[in-house]
Amino acid sequence: MEFKNLDQAQSLKALYADQKVSVKQALTVQRINDYSVDAAGGLTYNYAAMPVDDKILDDLQKLSDEQQLIEKYKALLKGEVMNTGEKRLVLHQLTRGQVLPDRVVADGEDKGDFYRSQLERIKDFSEQVRSGKALASDGKPFDTVCQIGIGGSDLGPRALYLALRGYASGKGIPQLQAHFISNVDPDDAAEVIDSLDLNRTLFILVSKSGTTLETLTNQTLVMDAMKKAGVKDPAMHMVAVTSKTSPLAKSKEVREAFFFDDYIGGRYSSTCPVGGVVLSCAFGFDVFEKLLKGAHEADVAALEADIRKNAALLDALIGVYNRNVLGYPSTAILPYSQALSRFPAHLQQLDMESNGKHVNRYGEKVDYHTGALVFGEPGTNGQHSFYQLLHQGTDIIPLQFIGFKENQRGKDEEVKGSTSQEKLDANLAAQIVAFARGKDDENPNKEFDGGRVSSLLVARQLTPEALGALLSHYENKVMFQGFLWNLNSFDQEGVQLGKTLAKQVLAGCPGDPVLKAYSDLL
Ligand code: F6P
Repeated sequence: MEFKNLDQAQSLKALYADQKVSVKQALTVQRINDYSVDAAGGLTYNYAAMPVDDKILDDLQKLSDEQQLIEKYKALLKGEVMNTGEKRLVLHQLTRGQVLPDRVVADGEDKGDFYRSQLERIKDFSEQVRSGKALASDGKPFDTVCQIGIGGSDLGPRALYLALRGYASGKGIPQLQAHFISNVDPDDAAEVIDSLDLNRTLFILVSKSGTTLETLTNQTLVMDAMKKAGVKDPAMHMVAVTSKTSPLAKSKEVREAFFFDDYIGGRYSSTCPVGGVVLSCAFGFDVFEKLLKGAHEADVAALEADIRKNAALLDALIGVYNRNVLGYPSTAILPYSQALSRFPAHLQQLDMESNGKHVNRYGEKVDYHTGALVFGEPGTNGQHSFYQLLHQGTDIIPLQFIGFKENQRGKDEEVKGSTSQEKLDANLAAQIVAFARGKDDENPNKEFDGGRVSSLLVARQLTPEALGALLSHYENKVMFQGFLWNLNSFDQEGVQLGKTLAKQVLAGCPGDPVLKAYSDLL
């Protein structure tokens, strides 16, 4: 297997030379039918409004083969050290709980068995909490869970929780309310704590390292609030999700600890106990298991070498084509689903913490653009906000739409001749066409150039399986893009400097007058 920079790939040259495609002219009904691929979990990836044609796709296939993307994915699944910076394996696909063809043995244990054993524990524990067998310290059942964590210990689980609430309501699944505390801003903790009945709340303290300043501070605030509120035994109201080597693993302040390890990056941890405990307590283990099933299906689909049959691989390649050949600087995630309101925030961390890098996996500076800026909001809300720039701004921003034929709750009355879901989906279809085709007008202020590229991930409904597949689609897309750019997508050194300087500010900024001057402004 050869790891080489993107600009050393021979096949990239052909892509630069290829005739460019204008989606303004190219978008046809035939193309919408042809440029579609199954993305697992009931999802379809449609790329008819992306600036590619058969020649460009053939050349992207050559690039995929030359950069050995599938071989690299297989090596990762086999347990090779793909996180070169931290010298770690990368095993999040194993946390879906499925048996993959390759056993991965590390640190003296079978890692598949280890992650499955944690799933079993989550199943038991969440069933006990939901059935009222695991009780609060006053002998009564819990009715609320609250996760304390930040970054990957918050964003993915929170996005998935919000995404599944409507599904559970629609199916009549009894729910425990879930809340989240992440920011070290005291107003965040205070607002959540004030809204809770602390006697009825089970806290889930999530930190792989067990050393994150924000999380430990918020844990202390919660513990103090429980003591003040007269909660009999606060430790009975807290479980930990952490690594076995972290200081939290043996904490006396928690009733139970669930484990993951250094081979699961924070932003890739939603399918391990980081997301598993909160989602299983809130909706039941069954629902979480369905999400794992969808994620696993998408992992398997991502092994296909033919890019026209592999949605995550194709999405990754088209993304790199947009970034490096066409020079587009950012990308927007636009879910037409309120349930996915925090999904763009999760993808910001997933994508930008993984591929926002300027050195390759050997630590050498690269001479080309890597990860694009990612942002997004649900439609139609976004339409009344930043779509102005997307339609008429000076940059072309590739768009990733996500849409569903049916809503989750099953309630959808006809108002003014159509249901709300029909209005939502009509807007989505209209936007794709408006961006691609544009509109001529004598008045330049009202003219739309068109040629604004987009793709669509669509399913019948946002079910747990579809959500799991969506999660995995993006994880695998980001992984393939990292391989294309020859990056280590699995460390995050870029977040360290700020943390170190914040500690220096708290210690009085010894020897740094500039740091002191800024801290004096606050
Ligand atoms: O600051 C970045 C980061 O390390 C993320 O990658 C991670 O998701 C988050 O902090 C939380 O880390 P931990 O789970 O160790 O508290």
